[in-house]
Amino acid sequence: MNIDIFTLFPEWFEWFGSQRHVANVLGAGSSIQCVNIRDHTPLTGGQVDDTPFGGGAGMVMRVDVLDHALREHYGEDPVQLRARRRVIALAPGGRLLDDALVDELAQEPSMTLLCGRYEGFDERILEHFASDVVSVGRYVLSGGELAAMVVCDAVMRKLPGALGHSHSVVEESFSPALGGHPEYPHYTRPAEYRGWGVPEILLSGHHERIGEWRLARSAERGERGPSGAAGGAG
Ligand code: ADE
Repeated sequence: MNIDIFTLFPEWFEWFGSQRHVANVLGAGSSIQCVNIRDHTPLTGGQVDDTPFGGGAGMVMRVDVLDHALREHYGEDPVQLRARRRVIALAPGGRLLDDALVDELAQEPSMTLLCGRYEGFDERILEHFASDVVSVGRYVLSGGELAAMVVCDAVMRKLPGALGHSHSVVEESFSPALGGHPEYPHYTRPAEYRGWGVPEILLSGHHERIGEWRLARSAERGERGPSGAAGGAG
């Protein structure tokens, strides 16, 4: 997959790209390219944002600046671009990222991520340049960069070469293999610690029954709903 990230902070992604599972995917033919929006602004002094019409706090990313940056990079009108390529604006009010959306994006040959800063984007960017507006949760980050990394991380770990065992992606939390439920509990050595044992079935070597037990625990967790720390969350 070919990923372009439009950001004011391209250096943030240097660390991200050097992480093992990301580097593995990049080595297997995928790419991440960062475009510094400020390098493409038609305005003087590197201006990229402005005060909101109607007043209020913060600064808003300008539509003309993003138009210019996308047009220079792709050599076409961004209104047309979004018809042939996923152009995803990261914003707290967007479609919530979940496993189904991650799967959908992982099928794409390419995607563009737009990272806003400050108060976010001029609405016309979302209306006319973005094919999708995606949120990583109903809270506000100081910019789209961390959200873009969340999207990239979740998508890239589904791509060939990311993880040692491809099975771990098939049967993981919220996957169709687990009926969309959270993953079952995991245990490893020691089999007993401070008097806390592990379920006997996992030590039985009986793979079919272990599989059934895991599906049942996963469904149980799904029915219980999201849990906090106490009792485990998987
Ligand atoms: N930008 C700021 N907050 C965000 C969020 N929660 N999700 C996506 N992009 C964001």
